[in-house]
Amino acid sequence: MFVKTVETKNQQRNSDDRRWPGIEIRNIKKAVEHPDIRGEQHYTIRSGQNQKEVKNAYFDFGFALVARIVSFAHRFSEIRDTMNILGIETSCDETSGAVLCNGNVRSNVVSSQLCHTSFGGVVPELASREHERLIVSIVDAAVTEANITKNDLDVIAATAGPGLIGAVMVGLCFAQGLAYALDVPFVPVNHIEAHIFSPFINEGSGHTAPEGAYVSLTVSGGHTLLSVVAPDLSYKVIGRTLDDAAGEAFDKTGKMLGLPYPAGPVIDKLAEKGDPNFHLFPRALTSQSQSSKSWHGNFDFSFSGLKTSVLTWLQKQSPEFIERHKADIAASIQAAIVGVLVEKSIAAARSRNVMAVSIAGGVSANSSLRKAMKEACDKEGIALHLPSVTYSTDNAAMIATLAGLKLSRGMKAERNYNVAPYASFAAAAKKA
Ligand code: KG4
Ligand code: ZN
Repeated sequence: MFVKTVETKNQQRNSDDRRWPGIEIRNIKKAVEHPDIRGEQHYTIRSGQNQKEVKNAYFDFGFALVARIVSFAHRFSEIRDTMNILGIETSCDETSGAVLCNGNVRSNVVSSQLCHTSFGGVVPELASREHERLIVSIVDAAVTEANITKNDLDVIAATAGPGLIGAVMVGLCFAQGLAYALDVPFVPVNHIEAHIFSPFINEGSGHTAPEGAYVSLTVSGGHTLLSVVAPDLSYKVIGRTLDDAAGEAFDKTGKMLGLPYPAGPVIDKLAEKGDPNFHLFPRALTSQSQSSKSWHGNFDFSFSGLKTSVLTWLQKQSPEFIERHKADIAASIQAAIVGVLVEKSIAAARSRNVMAVSIAGGVSANSSLRKAMKEACDKEGIALHLPSVTYSTDNAAMIATLAGLKLSRGMKAERNYNVAPYASFAAAAKKA
């Protein structure tokens, strides 16, 4: 393949004439119409960002936009497929660094903090200190595992929120400092948005995003969202939790059962040996809820009623009974959460006429949710997209991947970005 690069950057507009002088356009026209004469099969053309007419003319010839030049600190860095992106994630209790080379994950180092276990939840100050202790070695490990050096990095990306403020700050400040030192662009990433696109990490090796719009269910320890994602990566949130998140429902009801934090994976394992029909816990805002008439088209979630129901029911049981039926109770709680998530996702896909659903976030690692969603999708003829379990829970590969996607779609890198612990999902959606 022969690639010819044509510069149109300094082309001047002829003020007397509405047309561009078009020296390159004339050449391109000749080459496109008579490929046999020039012999080139592929052209890359550079044009100034504001040269709309020139760009439109190229589009008319069938050229596509493949890259943008991003300006950073008086330096031009070309963002293209062949770039090495370092992603950093520190929003909660995972310290993670990942390197994405040419769109593929070369390394994804994740350290899950164990210091919170005895507290039954994440202690923010402990999380920040642990991130601070680990960040240098995690990033070093990610770069070494990727078989590159820091000087090979083209872009640094980090979670900028939402998350625990101190925890986010550690990764964000470290990432911006490193970007400054290496003189490469920095890209802030919204954590929830990164989860949404995590099923398509390593796109090209079997994880291709659907061609049309799809419904995304994002279920983590802090968020439960249903959104409709368009092919251009823009998305609209159509439902969210009114109280607890799905992961929180797992963690809090698990705590009532005496399980360690985070209880989600423990319930998942325990439930394998239990009966999901042992006790029917409530499924709020669904066809099975008491006010079932009003649920149609309501894509919001509510899990606080389940929490109360589990608590009051457990209080009526003896400790021996609970111990004997722990697996059955875990399976029944899991069935209530999974039932709601599947029913709402399928109803959303039907109502929006889309033929694909994706699940992401920590709870998407749940084996029962994966199985039930697959069965429901198969029944409806809907394609299901899941992240590999490694990319369900918090990881830096999803941060690097979203940074790459955004840059390839023209997002500007930042210089000094402030921490955004409550980064609005709606604001991120509007920008996308
Ligand atoms: O996405 P994530 O790692 O962190 C947040 O952004 O919150 O999600 C963590 C949540 C926790 O609530 C954890 O209990 C839940 O994901 N989780 C699971 C499973 N693995 C993690 N919940 C159910 N089943 C699992 N296998
Ligand atoms: Zn997360």
